[in-house]
Amino acid sequence: MTRQILVTSALPYANGSIHLGHLVEYIQTDIWVRFQKMRGHDCRYMCADDTHGTAIMLRAEKEGVTPEALISRVWDEHTRDFAGFHIGFDHYYSTHTEENRALASKIYLALKDAGLIEVKTIAQMFDPVKKLFLPDRFIKGECPKCGAADQYGDNCEVCGATYSPTELKNPVSAVSGATPVHKDSEHYFFKLGDCETFLREWTTSGTLQDEAANKMQEWFAQGLSNWDISRDAPYFGFEIPGAPGKYFYVWLDAPVGYMASFARYAADRGLDFEAWWGRDAKTELVHFIGKDILYFHALFWPAMLKFSGHRLPTAVYAHGFLTVNGQKMSKSRGTFITAASYLEAGLNPEWLRYYFAAKLNGSMEDIDLNLDDFVARVNSDLVGKFINIASRTAGFIHKNFDGRLADRIEQPELLAAFQAAAASLASHYESRDFGRALREIMALADRANQFVADEKPWELARQPEAAARLHQVCTVALNCFRLLSLYLKPVLPELAQKVEAFLAVEPLAWDHVNTLLLGHSINEYTHLMTRIDPKTLTAMVDANRQNLAPAPAPAPARHAEAQTHAARPAAVTIADTISIEDFARIDLRIARIAGAEHVEGADKLLRLTLDLGELGTRQIFAGIKSAYAPETLVGRLTVMVANLAPRKMKFGMSEGMVLAASGDAPGLFILSPDSGAQPGMKVK
Ligand code: MSP
Ligand code: ZN
Repeated sequence: MTRQILVTSALPYANGSIHLGHLVEYIQTDIWVRFQKMRGHDCRYMCADDTHGTAIMLRAEKEGVTPEALISRVWDEHTRDFAGFHIGFDHYYSTHTEENRALASKIYLALKDAGLIEVKTIAQMFDPVKKLFLPDRFIKGECPKCGAADQYGDNCEVCGATYSPTELKNPVSAVSGATPVHKDSEHYFFKLGDCETFLREWTTSGTLQDEAANKMQEWFAQGLSNWDISRDAPYFGFEIPGAPGKYFYVWLDAPVGYMASFARYAADRGLDFEAWWGRDAKTELVHFIGKDILYFHALFWPAMLKFSGHRLPTAVYAHGFLTVNGQKMSKSRGTFITAASYLEAGLNPEWLRYYFAAKLNGSMEDIDLNLDDFVARVNSDLVGKFINIASRTAGFIHKNFDGRLADRIEQPELLAAFQAAAASLASHYESRDFGRALREIMALADRANQFVADEKPWELARQPEAAARLHQVCTVALNCFRLLSLYLKPVLPELAQKVEAFLAVEPLAWDHVNTLLLGHSINEYTHLMTRIDPKTLTAMVDANRQNLAPAPAPAPARHAEAQTHAARPAAVTIADTISIEDFARIDLRIARIAGAEHVEGADKLLRLTLDLGELGTRQIFAGIKSAYAPETLVGRLTVMVANLAPRKMKFGMSEGMVLAASGDAPGLFILSPDSGAQPGMKVK
């Protein structure tokens, strides 16, 4: 029976580039979709950019463009990156579309009619300069537990404490530097607590992986809080119907983006939207997501669907996070690898597809990209085992038999075993245990190689009387190769296409396993895949290694609500290691403080004039007012970062940074060189 399956991957946030971590998800989904299509099912793969929120609004402002222009540029980049990795979406849309506005509004109004929306006044942190309510990630201050400076509004990276931004000591807005104030505002809440009975039932109905269902039980035990779905203007998003100046929180309209992407796709093709999204839809709806956004997909989203009169997801499949060389992806180590940089380095996207597939098993475990293992695995499996079967036998068919395969197979056992593997392989693909599928496929490749090694076609080719045997051996080997290509096609679609051209066959579908290629003319073999050169990888990692950037932009407030439930990373004590080259990029100089004065309206800053000898003078603003009276500073020597990009502050340009120490104990201490140092000297 033909299944009708609507498949989604999570909508990538339009605030950043696609990186290899994202690709775990899109590659996993794409393999599953390609497998379903090869089986003859009616499978539609929908996705879109997730475009709304404060972070996008502020980034656009900083770049001096409209949010619309920013998201359209990012859409171009994302779709190019995805195409580069052969992610075959049937439709890739955007959440900033009329379809999404209409659907999000309709769902909201239905929830309101069902009595599931309540309005409450809450106090939040407000930036009085920017006139903006600040998401947690845009507030910095001292940790209420350990006092560490410069911590984000939701958790401390030093001691690991989690808290609300209102608890931060000496908070500042990361947007303007101003001190935030508490301000009341009306917010709209989705009463998730009222959906508990339904959710308890739904989450144990077999829709979720066991690990995810267990996680749900923890969340139920903690109690479901109502969900704040509104944000105040200014906000880049959709205004809430009947609530001027209030906008849907980005996570309200993001999952509706799955629907909107399909709505547009369906309208263009005359498909019946209701048959896929209506309450009684008979089709399947399958969401692939990362484990970090389970809360949204297993609680908020089904509740929204259920109580607005829609169908529910058939399955939510969560995967783990990518680590590189056993560690969290890191910009300073160069392992925060963008999709674009991988392709620019000249690496073959199918190598990564193969490697990720080999590591995926349908669970929520994290998966590791070990770069040495990557080279070894791809070179040995794909080139050494798989491609080798064709490259060692195709030439003889061409030279000795006019490009034509034998008419019949005399010893069918090996090929029968290859064909018999189809059922088990299909069940592994279906259950997303791609690793197991590939292990079984490579075991078959081993058998084919053993067969070629035993039969030694290169020796048969030297004996005119062995021609028939040679024809048999090469025909068997190439039929093995064809079946392996078929089995690998969901993972290696481009390679499979090249194989189809080489073998002169129709696009391989799963039921082609039942046929063999006999009495058939094939094309001349040209090399299908090269080995990975480890040097290319080193170059890619170097290209991704970032300068120690001044004041990195705060990460977007992606899902503050869920973060209160998520596990926290262990406390960090020392920053990631850097190379000596990284260190050399920082130009440290001895400076004489030639002037120091209070800055009107700034309660933490002093304006310093620094004398760098022959290198001239600099103006900088330093947050050291609490520790030093200006007159005590004039004349003394200190150390400054001279090549920090100048930063425009409210009070003027700041052209560098003075080094000062601070820690758990109170106090702030600027550095001084030993006597004899001269202004302008390099510190290294
Ligand atoms: N915009 C939201 C999703 C909205 S869906 C209605 C979002 N975007 S994201 O860009 O941050 O992430 C997109 C997907 O990539 C998520 O499923 C996320 O889990 C996944 N990954 C992001 N980084 C990842 C790794 N390092 N490793 C594996 N998956 C990762 O969340
Ligand atoms: Zn702390």
